Amino acid sequence: MKLLITGGAGFIGSNFIRYLLKKYKNYKIFNLDKLTYCGNLDNLIDVEKNPRYKFFKGDIADKKIVEKLVKNVDVIINFAAESHVDRSILEPDSFIKTDIFGTFTLLEAAKKFKIKKFIQISTDEVYGSRKIGYFKETDPLNPSSPYSASKAGADLLTLAYFKTYNLPVLITRSTNNYGPYQYPEKIIPLFITNLLEGKKVPLYGRGLNKRDWLYVLDNCRAIDLILHKGKIGEIYNIASGYELTNLELTKIILKELNKDESWIEFVKDRPGHDFRYALDCSKIKKLGWRPIYQFKKAIKETIDWYKKNQWWWKKLKSGKFLEYYKRQYEKKE
Ligand code: NAD
Ligand code: TYD
Repeated sequence: MKLLITGGAGFIGSNFIRYLLKKYKNYKIFNLDKLTYCGNLDNLIDVEKNPRYKFFKGDIADKKIVEKLVKNVDVIINFAAESHVDRSILEPDSFIKTDIFGTFTLLEAAKKFKIKKFIQISTDEVYGSRKIGYFKETDPLNPSSPYSASKAGADLLTLAYFKTYNLPVLITRSTNNYGPYQYPEKIIPLFITNLLEGKKVPLYGRGLNKRDWLYVLDNCRAIDLILHKGKIGEIYNIASGYELTNLELTKIILKELNKDESWIEFVKDRPGHDFRYALDCSKIKKLGWRPIYQFKKAIKETIDWYKKNQWWWKKLKSGKFLEYYKRQYEKKE
């Protein structure tokens, strides 16, 4: 099988490429990535010389490079996105361009070259927030941030290409991932690396918002199953079922790094902050998937990875990152 993975130099995409190359010895992978601030070829150093893997620097909204690659593959898996809610609040433009127009460009090429499968990697955030209960795949979309609205737009467009043009699409919607190679702006890597640098951790509001935490390799296993056994035209929710408030999560990280609660800085809340995301995963469970990574063990391993790989994140937390971070704090004061 020949696959085009877009956004493969990001967190989940790079973990997925490594997972696929190891598991399937006859699959060939093209990775198309624009290398935005969070795209990082360091994430794939160990596979860059693999003869079954090839990297292309480019934008998913650029029809020329997209067509050149799509005409030579069987499957497209679209991970490429602007993915950080806080950045979408500060600067939504690139979210519309990449998440919506970029996905549209890929769908058009997929239609033109009669691709066998198009998998859109979406998010639980498209459903919006709920205090109790779990969202099913059939629930209406109710996004809150420019990020989740742009992802919802991409989902609807993807489904329209199935209904209108019979394009063989599938959509995955997962909860918050964690693990190695996550850009240190998301809560888990930000808090771990801040503490390793001797900095406090900025907790929004009172830290009572809840998230479901999915280890990235459990997500890779789910996407793999959907790629091979998923039903065309369907959406699949993916979650661990392991929910924590942000304060509970922060306390776990502090404890692992031998720090007390004085290292927490309670800061102004994120505007439009979704209280909770939670998914009903009975559909993917029927297909044969279950999460296998236990949070308590996987978070320890994740913290250990960031401890051992300071070369990876230290260079990311300078330059443009600091500029962005300064703006974040301006917003909070
Ligand atoms: P990430 O921000 O780490 O990586 C995104 C990648 O896309 C980067 O390598 C970036 O360079 C690339 N990219 C951005 N714009 C591009 C463009 N126009 N053309 C080509 N490449 C471009 O994101 P991630 O956390 O790995 O998330 C991957 C996907 O999974 C996203 O679609 C996101 O919405 C979705 N998702 C993420 C999570 C999570 O917890 N991280 C949860 C649910 C869904
Ligand atoms: P984040 O990792 O940005 O993922 P998402 O917003 O996509 O769920 O944030 C996870 C939760 O942590 C969210 O409720 C916001 C909160 N948070 C903080 O309290 N402080 C921070 O510095 C960040 C980045 C997030």
